[in-house]
Order: sequence, then C-alpha cells, then structure tokens
Amino acid sequence: MLTARRHYDSSREFAVEGTAREKPDRSDSVSLHNVEEMTREAEHRWGDRLSVDDRMSRALVSFQANRGQPQYRWFKYKEAFSVELVEFVFEQYGQTSRDLLDPFAGSGTALFAAASTGRRSEGIEILPIGQEIIEVRALIRGGLKKSEIELLAEWARTTPWRRMAPGARLNELRITKGAFPTETDLSIRRFLSATESLDDRARRLLRFALLCVLESVSFTRKDGQYLRWDYRSGRRQGAREFDKGAIQDLDAAMRAKLSEMSLDLLGGSRPRGLFSPKCSPAEIRLHRGSCLEVLPTMPADRFDIVVTSPPYCNRYDYTRTYALELAALGVGERELRSLRQAMLTCTVENKEKDVRSMHPAWRRAIDVAREHGLLEAIMSYLDEEKRVGRLNNNGIPRMVRGYFLEMACVIAECARVLRSGSPMIMVNDNVRYAGACVPVDLILSEFAERLGFTAERIIVLPGAKGNSSQQMGAHGRQSLRKCIYIWRKK
Ligand SMILES: C[S@@+](CC[C@H](N)C(=O)[O-])C[C@H]1O[C@@H](n2cnc3c(N)ncnc32)[C@H](O)[C@@H]1O
Repeated sequence: MLTARRHYDSSREFAVEGTAREKPDRSDSVSLHNVEEMTREAEHRWGDRLSVDDRMSRALVSFQANRGQPQYRWFKYKEAFSVELVEFVFEQYGQTSRDLLDPFAGSGTALFAAASTGRRSEGIEILPIGQEIIEVRALIRGGLKKSEIELLAEWARTTPWRRMAPGARLNELRITKGAFPTETDLSIRRFLSATESLDDRARRLLRFALLCVLESVSFTRKDGQYLRWDYRSGRRQGAREFDKGAIQDLDAAMRAKLSEMSLDLLGGSRPRGLFSPKCSPAEIRLHRGSCLEVLPTMPADRFDIVVTSPPYCNRYDYTRTYALELAALGVGERELRSLRQAMLTCTVENKEKDVRSMHPAWRRAIDVAREHGLLEAIMSYLDEEKRVGRLNNNGIPRMVRGYFLEMACVIAECARVLRSGSPMIMVNDNVRYAGACVPVDLILSEFAERLGFTAERIIVLPGAKGNSSQQMGAHGRQSLRKCIYIWRKK
C-alpha cells in the first residue's frame, strides 16, 4: 500500500553544500560543533516522531493555495496558511472538535475555515490590518444586503470617485512617506471622499477594497523584513536599484478588486459552505490585542482544538511590511512603535519583555525555557559570536531568547485553555543564525511536553527550504525544516 508518510532523514539538515563556509577558528568550531552535536542528539530522540508527509506541500501551508479561493483571495496576507490546510487538520485530528482557538489569527484563515464547518472559533490578533480583514469578513459572513453587493459592482462599473474632489491628505508614517505616485495619491483621496456620504457598512467595505490594492498601486513591495522601494520613488535603498515592474493605476486596480469582490459575493465563485443552507451560524469572535495579554483572561478547558501559526523567529517585521495598510488605518508613529514591541518577539528591534512580571503563573513556563539544554547551548554560542563581533546584527541573541521565552508562555496558556485530549496544531519554520541551525520544531515540542502536552508528531514538509543569502554566503547552504507540529493536551 502506498503511504504518504515517510521517515525524516535528519542527516540532510547538516548536509552543507558548496565551499563558501568559513573555516571556523578553534573556539568557534568547538562551540558550533557542540550545538550541532546536541541538535543531532535531539533529532535522534525525535526520530520516530519526525516524518515527511508527501500530501503536504509548501503551497498548502502558505497563502499560495488561497489565491484561487473566493474571499480569501481579496487581501494577500502573505503569511497566512491555506484554508485547505485547516480542513485537512480538521479531518485528520479534529473531526469532533467544536471550539477552535487561534492565538495568532492573522487574516483569520483558521477562524473562517472553522466557521464554514459549523465550529465556533475565537482568534487573537494584534495587528490592526489582520483585525480589519477578520472584522470585514465577519460582517460579510453575518449577511450582506443585495443592495450592498450591488453597490460594489456599480462602483466597479461607474468609478464614481473620479468625479470627486480629493479629500484630506492621507495619514503617513515616516516609513511610508512618498509611497504613491502623485496621481495615485490624489485618486486615493478622491476615492475616500466619495465613500464619506455612505453608511458605515458600505464605507467599511469599500475602504477594505482599497486596503486590498494599496501595495499594487504603490512604489513598494512587501519583502519580509521590510518594505522594498522601487527606484521610481526617489528613495534610495541599498546599493542595488529595485524595479517592482508595473505599478497599477488606482482606478484600474479598484475596478478589478470591486468586480472580484462582487463576483465572489454574488456567488459566481462562492467559498465552500459560506452561504450554503447547511452552514450553521457559527460564531467567530476576535480579540484585539496581544495573546500574551488576552490568553490569561480566558477560562481554562474552554477549547477543543488550537490551530495556529505564530510569527517565525526570522526577523520578519510585520509592522514594516504592513506599514502602508497600517497608515491607511490611521496608525500613528507612537502606536506603530508600541505595536512593534508588543508583538511576539521576532525582530532584532524587539526589546526584552518582562514576562516574569506579566503573569505570575508563567514561572513554570519560563523555567522550562531557561532550563532547556539545547536552547542554552545555542544561546551561549550566539552570545559568544556577538561578543567577538561576528553577528551581522547584535540584536539576534536577544530576539532568539525572547522568542522562546514568550512562546513557552503561549504554549503553557494553550495547554490551560484546551480541554484534556484536545489537539494543538502549529505551523512554524526552523531558522539559522551564525551558522547554527535552531531546531524550533524540536525545542518548542520539548517545551510542550513539559507544559502539559504529548507531542505526537512533527510533520516535515517535503522540499527543504534554504537559508538567507547572507547565511548562505558565509556558511554554505543548509536545509531548514518547515513543519506542522501535532501536540495533544494530556
Ligand atoms: C504567521 S501569521 C498568522 C497567519 C494566519 N494563520 C493566517 O492564516 O492569516 C502570525 C500572526 O501573529 C500576529 N501576532 C504577532 N504577535 C502577536 C501577539 N503577541 N498576539 C497576537 N497576535 C500576534 C501577527 O500580527 C501575525 O498576523
């Protein structure tokens, strides 16, 4: 019989290709060697629970698979997982689950996938753009009037904003100044002023459509750690000029987006289950804020499945990549800075959070993170690399330490709010700094085992992911696992 599951060959993780890897000096080689040895031992311990599943693909675990999905396709939340992945998870691990939690809800994929199968769901999201996507889609889910859908189609046809005088200047952040060509800036202001005479719901829908096209009409492109600027913006960024290709005209982009939305809403390409008679009016609840603040307020034993994907420990800064949308939503400089600090630590700019004083019950989780041998070894290696000036950013050790401390607290909270026997499914990537692979999958699964879960399986996605070009130049190519963790509350 054919099986999609096969054994994971951990020796590939250390298969360094190429010749670019620097010959380390003696003290470095001992330390890095120790880390590698300890990682190999950890992989050995996890050997029978690490497996590749050929039914999984990177597209399934990323936004890519949502590109053709009605409604999900409107706003390209690039860090999202796919609705199919959530459906797969329900089928495999959560057939009887009724109450879902996603503490890092993003654009709400897990919440809407749960709702379309009659499950109740709660999500926590800190970023206003994620919150807006979820709230607008929840508003739509609650039922739109025919006239509201027709309004979108009519605006696509007649572009009424073109006849308006431009309204007030757009809210800008320091990092978004000059993001639009002058004509586009005026068109956006015309569009916003045309929505002013409408009722709240219609205005919100149309403004959401605008959020969906901002990147495509700007000089910028979302690029992981920051926004990349096209050379035509006049902003200099790095040595090499960046050309993003065609920059869409706002009127054309809005016409296309409004047509897409009205088509999806009129049922031309209806999402499975959304308006079907079988669909129960399952509740979706969004908590705005940080899960580090919200989780401790939730009652114990409340949920029977967690499906989530936290930020990865990869320096990706959501507050920079979504700066255009945040500015459009009225976020100012101070709010942006405090959002950046309140988010789960995953950038070199994050200051240390005092998790110990945040919540007294987290003492155990903090101890679990602090006492983890492999993590400690990685930290002392990174601290030493920092001391001798070999890190390309000195904030890396603080980021890695903060990431694991905060994740330990999140895991402890998820264990508390889940009912006994319930699954927790997490998508996450391994990372690599200063040549050391950080096996996020094994470390977090070992935390989970000490914080109330049985870590049943780590599904490794086929097709290993390389590391950043900086890392590749200095240390050669190493594959990094992208995984789905399957844990079950004891
Ligand atoms: C990988 S994305 C999740 C994407 C989501 N699965 C989806 O399909 O859209 C991680 C999310 O965690 C959010 N986040 C980061 N720190 C957070 C925190 N402390 N509390 C709640 N959400 C947070 C980010 O804003 C981001 O939307």
